[in-house]
Amino acid sequence: MCGIVGYIGKRKAYPILIKGLHRLEYRGYDSAGVALINPAGQLNIYKAKGKVSELEAYAADKDTDGCIGIAHTRWATHGEPNTVNAHPHYSESERLAIIHNGIIENYAVLKAVLQKEGYTFKSDTDTEVLVQLIEYTQLNRHVDLKTAVQLALQQVIGAYAIAVLDKDNPDTLIAARKGSPLVVGIGDDEYFLASDATPIVEYTDKVIYIEDEEVVTLKLRVEGLELKEVGELKVESNIDITTINNVTKTPEIKRLELSLSQLEKGGYPHFMLKEIFEQPRTLTDSMRGRVNVRQDNIALSGFIDNKERFLNAKRIIITACGTSWHAGLIAMYAIEEFAQIPVEVEYSSEFRYRKPVINKDDVVIAISQSGETADTLAAIQLAKEKGAFIFSICNVVGASIPRVSDSGCYTHVGPEIGVASTKAFTAQVVALTMLALCIGKEKCTMSKEQYLRIVRELGQIPDKIERVLGQNKRIADFAKTFTYAQNFIYLGRGYNFPVAMEGALKLKEISYIHAEGYPAAEMKHGPIALISQEMPVVVVAPHCGTYEKVVSNIQEIKARKGRVIAVVTEGDQLVSRIADYTIEIPATEECLTPLLTVIPLQLLAYHIAVVKGCDVDQPRNLAKSVTVE
Ligand code: G6P
Repeated sequence: MCGIVGYIGKRKAYPILIKGLHRLEYRGYDSAGVALINPAGQLNIYKAKGKVSELEAYAADKDTDGCIGIAHTRWATHGEPNTVNAHPHYSESERLAIIHNGIIENYAVLKAVLQKEGYTFKSDTDTEVLVQLIEYTQLNRHVDLKTAVQLALQQVIGAYAIAVLDKDNPDTLIAARKGSPLVVGIGDDEYFLASDATPIVEYTDKVIYIEDEEVVTLKLRVEGLELKEVGELKVESNIDITTINNVTKTPEIKRLELSLSQLEKGGYPHFMLKEIFEQPRTLTDSMRGRVNVRQDNIALSGFIDNKERFLNAKRIIITACGTSWHAGLIAMYAIEEFAQIPVEVEYSSEFRYRKPVINKDDVVIAISQSGETADTLAAIQLAKEKGAFIFSICNVVGASIPRVSDSGCYTHVGPEIGVASTKAFTAQVVALTMLALCIGKEKCTMSKEQYLRIVRELGQIPDKIERVLGQNKRIADFAKTFTYAQNFIYLGRGYNFPVAMEGALKLKEISYIHAEGYPAAEMKHGPIALISQEMPVVVVAPHCGTYEKVVSNIQEIKARKGRVIAVVTEGDQLVSRIADYTIEIPATEECLTPLLTVIPLQLLAYHIAVVKGCDVDQPRNLAKSVTVE
């Protein structure tokens, strides 16, 4: 993962870089570092273990002058998270500095070659190998820096987004990408570089998304140089983009649709709580222009334009990781119920490596909030090679996964900053439900009445979520009584089995309490052995087809003195009498219950983590965007 940021212009680079790192901290926070060329031409690097604030404290009394710089926040892959392994890394002569997001897979071979040539290494990282290779190439092939970067990258196997500073070229910033994201922001005679647009948005709305195997060279404007017209925008003629094989590319400038207020906490103590409370609005945004309750219709352009591929699909394969995989499991229930197409739900990391059978008439749906998850990207690339039709459900517009896909649907929930996914999950479920309904309607595999009922009910979901959020205070109160727990079990059935897993994942991620999500009926085959007075069991038990069976499971837990927190439908009498705590959700269609039942589980995990004093938005060892395998 890791976040990278760079600046070249007339302003002081350091404050811009530090602010940018804070925005990118969701990508990793094991260490942080910055490299700057000061007006005297010195290249200074400062690094610190831990979060960006540690770097700020360390650099407080250092020389941070300079109008060109690069900075990095790390999620450790090669080498433990310490100061030496923190980026930026110097080259042998300390003339070059590099930052890197990704993994150089053949670093050991390259390192051995460089060591034979007398190069020495200070860190355990793959990144240091790359900066040494660039310097070695430049010296041995007598080429300029851009050519050295191109030639070095031709030898690299793996993924990278890099930025390179050269003390001897203080007016030039070079960057490149393959597999890891990289965006260039274009200001007025100043440029910004970053892993995503969040560090850029307050300075400019003009961006270029760098493509795989492209190298971008950014120089300050030369007096008297004309601006070139590119589309509706004017471009500095001194942005140079080539491939690593030196083929010139024309920069395509896009307008950014992101506002600064979306990146702030808006009065909430944590991004996660803000994002949980945003869900009534974000789901309205996800459905806008798609769900038309007045006309009883759903219009999903990604489906309409590719109807035949869906209607002729013999099978749908859903691939995703983490929370997105849970959304995929819910979609399996909906697509099989409404469209009657067999669905397989695959962890991307397993799917891509197990020689899967993929046919030309398969539809592969990739789900990814970030649109950058390395395994999911690789999985769809594999499926695409085999001729499958790729449809993606992503949140970040313009990210790698939607760009590789044949079609898709953006969830439009705005930036999700809390590392534990909340609003992205509910929007994914809505998008997938809309897709299932579109296919089902078109194939006539569901009744018109059922279609209409669900479409109308979708329109009610934001208000119903608002009602569930009204119980926040009560959930916060009883959450305090569970902070002692070492383990939790979450149970659910049917559409709510994936919700049980998602609830367990939320708790694990942010409170570090071990939790397992199980299909309620499976409890008898193992987890029941764990139940004692100490064991909290969260049971998702809305009034659905299997309600009575779940009630029996709750009886079994109570008979063994387990403590039950139940999520039930408003007016439920049965469960409320036996459970220790109940949280009510308004009645809704069974396929939509996950959108309501997950809300109290998000809140429960949040409040337990807060009482335990955990870092809710940046839990240990995790990162939001997993761009390594
Ligand atoms: C990481 C995040 C999770 C997320 C998963 C998949 O593990 O911490 O919140 O669900 O990656 O990410 P994606 O962006 O592909 O949905």
